[in-house]
Amino acid sequence: MPLKVIASIVGARPQFIKAAPVSRALAGHFDERLIHTGQHYDYGLSEIFFAEMGLPAPACNLGIGSGSHGEQTGQMLIALERTLAEMRPDWVLIYGDTNSTLAGALAAAKAGLPLAHVEAGLRSFNRAMPEEINRLVADHLATLLFCPTEAAVQNLEREGIREGVHLVGDVMYDAFLYNLAAARARSDVLRRLGIRRGGYALATVHRAGNTDDAGNLSGIFTALGRLPIPVILPLHPRTRKLLAQFGIPIPANVTVLDPLGYLDMLILEENAECILTDSGGIQKEAYLAGVRCLTLREETEWVETVEAGWNRLTGADPERILSAYVDWRPPAERPPLYGDGHAAEKIRDLLRAQS
Ligand code: UD1
Ligand code: UDP
Repeated sequence: MPLKVIASIVGARPQFIKAAPVSRALAGHFDERLIHTGQHYDYGLSEIFFAEMGLPAPACNLGIGSGSHGEQTGQMLIALERTLAEMRPDWVLIYGDTNSTLAGALAAAKAGLPLAHVEAGLRSFNRAMPEEINRLVADHLATLLFCPTEAAVQNLEREGIREGVHLVGDVMYDAFLYNLAAARARSDVLRRLGIRRGGYALATVHRAGNTDDAGNLSGIFTALGRLPIPVILPLHPRTRKLLAQFGIPIPANVTVLDPLGYLDMLILEENAECILTDSGGIQKEAYLAGVRCLTLREETEWVETVEAGWNRLTGADPERILSAYVDWRPPAERPPLYGDGHAAEKIRDLLRAQS
């Protein structure tokens, strides 16, 4: 019997990281074919993760690239419709909440193909976020919904989605555990940057609500500049472009880097004194690494990190960021929140049970 075909649609940095453990678990059980939409195309946002994480090369790259939301998603939808018609997969697998996720969900649903969503049920309850729209549509179209947290299951239940919902844990925790030893053995990022454990803060900024709002972006950089510690900032190209456009200077204590690979990132995370970020994935990695996190947003989808006392929402206001940095420390306890590190195998077994 030939193996069932799964078309996994990925396109942006965090999706390569999420797909790596799932691809490993599917190997030998399914004929998985990765479709790269081309949403991210710089080496440091895309190819490096394939090289570092053993992710199989994509079966095809649609080469869509950047654009407005409608343009980017629309072009992906056109190309995916054609690709899925040729590939005729048994399942379409989508990850997270990017425009690649949305296009994948729409293409599968319109083609009448069963759709499985990894990282289902996340909500910020802020529809001004492009990701919130993507998640809502993806979850309402999916046949199988793989939730990383109990909160995600409850969010779906509130929207009337009960069938096909499975609490499996977080595939980003799988990736974190699987790669930590390799990161410790192979990354020399601390030496390269001349920094030591606990001697710096790590920051990332790329969320549209921060980068596209001059007030928010300048508030965040004002705060970073007033931190009494060196700041390491691997910078998303979107943010680099908008800092230049708004004429916002880089403070003297902030070292700006190009985007880093996953292994360097894990080492910078686990050795940081504090993490300041508006990333979804990095809030969780801070928790997993036992490093306090200031989230530069007004809300988070990863509410359990806040409830556990390890994550503080500060928005982009310099006073709030600085006072949280100075006054707040997390508790000693850090209960497990994201499963047992085997979410990917659970996803594989649930897909097999359907086949
Ligand atoms: C996207 C996702 C976001 C996710 C993030 C992960 C959407 C709506 N947003 O945001 O949820 O957290 O990826 O990093 O899908 N650019 C480059 N090189 C690249 C890719 C992008 O320079 O390889 C620049 C372009 O100027 C582009 C801008 O970054 O216009 C934004 O890229 P885009 O993929 O639209 O959104 P992200 O901000 O990366
Ligand atoms: N990441 C990375 N290099 C970087 C910045 C982030 O490898 O320079 C990793 C990070 O460790 C996490 C994921 O990318 O695993 C998060 O992706 P991102 O912040 O781009 O998106 P989000 O999670 O907010 O959707």
